[in-house]
Amino acid sequence: MHQVELKKIKIKAEKEIKEADSLKKLDEIFREYLGQKGILSNLTKSLSKLPKKKRASFGKEINAFKVELEMALEKKKKLLKERLEKEMMEKEWIDVTLPGKKIVPGHLHPLTQVQREVGEIFQQMGFSIVEGPEIETEWYNFDALNIPKDHPARDFWDTLYLKRPKSTLKLKILLRTHTSPVQVRFMEKNHPPLRIIVPGRVFRHEATDARHEINFHQVEGLMVDKRVSLANFRAIVEEFFLRFFNKKVKIRLRPSFFPFTEPSLEVDISCPSCDGKKKCSFCQNKGWLEVMGAGMVHPNVFKNSGLNPRDWRGFAFGMGLERLTMVKYKINDIRLFYSGDLRFLTQF
Ligand code: DAH
Repeated sequence: MHQVELKKIKIKAEKEIKEADSLKKLDEIFREYLGQKGILSNLTKSLSKLPKKKRASFGKEINAFKVELEMALEKKKKLLKERLEKEMMEKEWIDVTLPGKKIVPGHLHPLTQVQREVGEIFQQMGFSIVEGPEIETEWYNFDALNIPKDHPARDFWDTLYLKRPKSTLKLKILLRTHTSPVQVRFMEKNHPPLRIIVPGRVFRHEATDARHEINFHQVEGLMVDKRVSLANFRAIVEEFFLRFFNKKVKIRLRPSFFPFTEPSLEVDISCPSCDGKKKCSFCQNKGWLEVMGAGMVHPNVFKNSGLNPRDWRGFAFGMGLERLTMVKYKINDIRLFYSGDLRFLTQF
């Protein structure tokens, strides 16, 4: 009876091992047959019930089966492991000969690029780069710069005034409409001789179109010394434009008016697109482009900055960074800079 049973068990175990398709399953089979409470250990326990004669031979048979089973399990385990490894290798195989995915790195915005370029050129000429606050007081933005209370630039429609909590100072605050206030801020704290440029964002309450934006950037310049003249100014801007456009451009100075300079000038350059030949749409066939306002620092501005106008002379200028970039790259709409349009941006 026991032999018959053992035979059945053997057949069942062989079948189970054959069908096992995972290491987990093999473990289960091991426990089922060879575990402490497994089938074989139960069989061994039942030996005592057999007549003595049979006990020894059946015991041997059980032991032989145990060894056989262990070997079969081990063999299958090896086989499964090999198969798993092979599958994994196939799954994780990488074709190193495939062409890689091209990574498109980001890059600096054209305005940042031009701002840095302008900064570098002026630094090479001994100017330092200085910054000032975008939120300004009415004093620095207007009064200190000799801009009278009724000056058109103070028009409510041009300036974005800000509300301030009642408890603080009475001074009105606003978003600066130009970078010129930094002239005063810098002269208050630094003794001449001075040579600075001030790049920065400015704000104007204007309707936007191809040439106007509500926020744009300027680069202010200031040079103060005992003997500074418009001749120095001319030499410096000529050199600047030569380096900036990588070619000689003509300069034209026209009389103008700014409250913070006397005399005041408007600076035109010969159109770099048609070399002043009046033959391009960019300069509307005029041959000249207006690029900056400038002049000799007004005595009142020196006074308001704590300097004696009798001791010092200086020139100042201000230009639009967008305008400069548009001239350099022949861009016809200022709004492109803030559009976030990659078709535009990736060209730089
Ligand atoms: N601040 C002037 C503007 O925003 C530009 C300007 C003109 C700046 C003449 C200057 C200057 O420093 O001397 O239009």
